[in-house]
Amino acid sequence: MSKYNKEIISFIQDSYGTHEFIPLHAPVFLGNEKKYVADTIDSTFVSSVGTYVDKFELMMSSISGTNKSIAVVNGTSALQVALRLAGVNAGDEVITQALTFIATINAIIYNGASPIFIDVDIDTMGLSPNAVDAFLEEFGEMREGICYNKKTNRKIAACMPMHTFGFPVHLDDLLKVCNKWNIPLVEDAAEAIGSEYHSKPVGSFGKLGVFSFNGNKIVTSGGGGAIVTNDIELGIKAKHLTTTAKIPHPYEYVHDEIGYNFRMPNLNAALACAQLEQLPKFIDSKRTLAFEYDSFFKSKGIKFRTELPQTQANYWLMCVELENKQEREAFLKETNENGVMTRPIWQLIFKSPLYAGFQKDEQINAMYLEDRIVNIPSSVR
Ligand SMILES: Cc1ncc(COP(=O)(O)O)c(C=O)c1O
Repeated sequence: MSKYNKEIISFIQDSYGTHEFIPLHAPVFLGNEKKYVADTIDSTFVSSVGTYVDKFELMMSSISGTNKSIAVVNGTSALQVALRLAGVNAGDEVITQALTFIATINAIIYNGASPIFIDVDIDTMGLSPNAVDAFLEEFGEMREGICYNKKTNRKIAACMPMHTFGFPVHLDDLLKVCNKWNIPLVEDAAEAIGSEYHSKPVGSFGKLGVFSFNGNKIVTSGGGGAIVTNDIELGIKAKHLTTTAKIPHPYEYVHDEIGYNFRMPNLNAALACAQLEQLPKFIDSKRTLAFEYDSFFKSKGIKFRTELPQTQANYWLMCVELENKQEREAFLKETNENGVMTRPIWQLIFKSPLYAGFQKDEQINAMYLEDRIVNIPSSVR
């Protein structure tokens, strides 16, 4: 094993105070989790309605700085519905990044639309406003106030950046480009609860934003998601669509649309409420770890990713940028063989044959990062 990797493994083991297996991200249950979950069992309201669902939605509005939040079964379904409400229909196109988790792209395809893969910025690892602008200058065409792709003749119905590992994208610049082309912004903030851009929570910049509460996130509901928006009417529509589009009535079953049963159960919402109460503490703990990692990796001449000046990152998954793919392979092999879990950043989505046919730009930055970025243990200590 290289001297460097040996020192890194020891540092991570010391940081977590153990020589046992260290996962990438494990949940921490130190608050009211058991009490709230037991409440739902005692009340019998474990399923799709209950006080914890309402409480969770209020807490999420407050945390995301938005007017309306809707609790749903997971982040993927939240993205699917958010896109539909932003106006994405079958046959449309959505601008997004190829350097992301598969759910970002699947949510587009579930709506019958196609992704357009645009490059990311090196500094944020998220969708690049300059690259989006360059693409639209070449292929965009306004027809009666709506942006079309000249190459495919299809409507570009939304732009969906993803805040990679909780590091916010350049939102001001991206919004400028989207506004110029009248394209609604939908934020995939699945990984970015609590992150801020110019002191404002991410997820609140777009027409709609989405969060995930999967077990690997900073706070978890077991499985769950949230749609957030400042547009109250859209929020009401999101609630309606995710609750089978049933018209409120004391006893009749009448549905006015083909909706979804995407409701978050009260049992899961109870867990989420207890977790959300601890979010500030969790983020503080992660920021302390990030600070320690940063000074350690600096001393070894290895790049550790830190937040940009105008942002506050939640440091969901922390990562190092290695010299090249060879270094990456050695690092992954040696850490994982020695009980320290590390993972490479995602394979670029279009490299899978299933997703290969969609339009894309040159992806120079995405390819650079794909070869070098590795996640290291990031759990709350
Ligand atoms: C970027 C991104 N988008 C969407 C999702 C989907 O969320 P979920 O797993 O809750 O469906 C995740 C993670 O799980 C994610 O990391």
